[in-house]
Amino acid sequence: MGIDHPILNAPMSRTASAELAAAVSNAGGLGMIGGTTRGGADWLRQQIRSTRALTNRPFGVGFISSFSNVDELVQVALDERVSVINHSFSDPTPYVAAARDCGIQVFAQVQSLEHAKRAADAGVDAIIAQGGEAGGHTGTLGTMAFVPAVVDAVGNLPVIAAGGIADGRGLAAALMLGAVGVSMGTRFVASHEWSGGSWEQTPLLAASTDDTIRTDVYDQIRGSEFPSGIADRVVRNAFNSKWEGRGNEIETVRNELQHELELAASQGDSSVMDISGGEAVGLVHQLESARTIVDRVVDEAMRLLRDNAAKYVDPTG
Ligand SMILES: Cc1cc2nc3c(=O)[nH]c(=O)nc-3n(C[C@H](O)[C@H](O)[C@H](O)COP(=O)(O)O)c2cc1C
Repeated sequence: MGIDHPILNAPMSRTASAELAAAVSNAGGLGMIGGTTRGGADWLRQQIRSTRALTNRPFGVGFISSFSNVDELVQVALDERVSVINHSFSDPTPYVAAARDCGIQVFAQVQSLEHAKRAADAGVDAIIAQGGEAGGHTGTLGTMAFVPAVVDAVGNLPVIAAGGIADGRGLAAALMLGAVGVSMGTRFVASHEWSGGSWEQTPLLAASTDDTIRTDVYDQIRGSEFPSGIADRVVRNAFNSKWEGRGNEIETVRNELQHELELAASQGDSSVMDISGGEAVGLVHQLESARTIVDRVVDEAMRLLRDNAAKYVDPTG
C-alpha cells in the first residue's frame, strides 16, 4: 500500500475525520475516515478533500455498510478515488467490482469466520478480523483465537487484527498471530486529532479494563440498523447499567429514552451517552498526538520482537 507502518486508525464514524486520518497517514500508517450517514455526502466529500490537503500519502474511508443509505456515501469515496474503502457489518460483494474499476482497494471488517470466508469469496483485498474486545460495534469472538483462524481460512489474503490492541505488545502479538497489521480505535480516541468531544475522552481515559460493557441498549432505543449478533462495546455508566438486559421494558418507554439520549448528547453527559471504547481502555492513559502513538507502538513492537527472539529462541539453533 506504500505505507511505512502496519497501523490503521479504525474508521470511527464522524469522529475519525480528516485531521486524524491525515495525521495517521503522515506518521506512516494508513489513515481512515469514518463515513457517517448522519453527516451525509457533503460532509464526507469535504473530509476526503481536507485529508488530501493535509497529506499526500494513501488514506481510506470506512462505512457501517448495514445502514440503508450508505450507497450514496460509497459513491463519494469512489468519485474521490480514495486508496481504500472498508465495509463493516455487511456483505462486501456488491461493492468490490466498482471499487476495482476505480483502482480502489476494498477491505471488509468481519466478526465471524463465515463472514471472513464470504469476504474472501467476494474478492476483497484485505480482511480486518475484529475481536469482541473492540470498542464500538463488535461481535463476541476473542481476537486471540479469531485472528489466526481467519488467517488459516483465507489463504494468502492479508488479515489485519482489530480489537484490544493499543500498544506495541498488541502489535507484536498480532503479527505473531499471522496478521499483517492492526486497526486501532480505542487508542486513537485518546488522540489530539480525534474529532469527538473531550467529554467523551475523559471517561475513556479514566476507565479500566473491567469498565466496558457490550450492550444493545442504545441500538434498540435508536433503532440502529446493525445485523444480529452485533452489539456496542462502550464504557459502563449509570444509564447503560440501568437498562442492560431490560429490552422489553425499553420498548414501552422508547420515546422517552430517545429524548433522554438527545438531551444527554446536547449536554455532553457521559453518564448517559454511549462512550464507545474497548477493553483496551485499560491500556490507554493519556491524550497524545497520533504520530506519538504510531511511533511508540511501532518502536515497542520492534523492540519486543527483537528482544524476545533472543530470549526464547536459542540462537545456536
Ligand atoms: C469510538 C469508536 C467508534 C467506532 N466506530 C466504528 C464505525 O463507525 N465503523 C466501524 O466499522 N467500526 C467502528 N468502530 C470499531 C473499529 O472499527 C475497530 O474495530 C475497533 O475500534 C478495534 O478495537 P479497539 O477499539 O480495541 O482498538 C469504532 C470504535 C470506536 C472505539
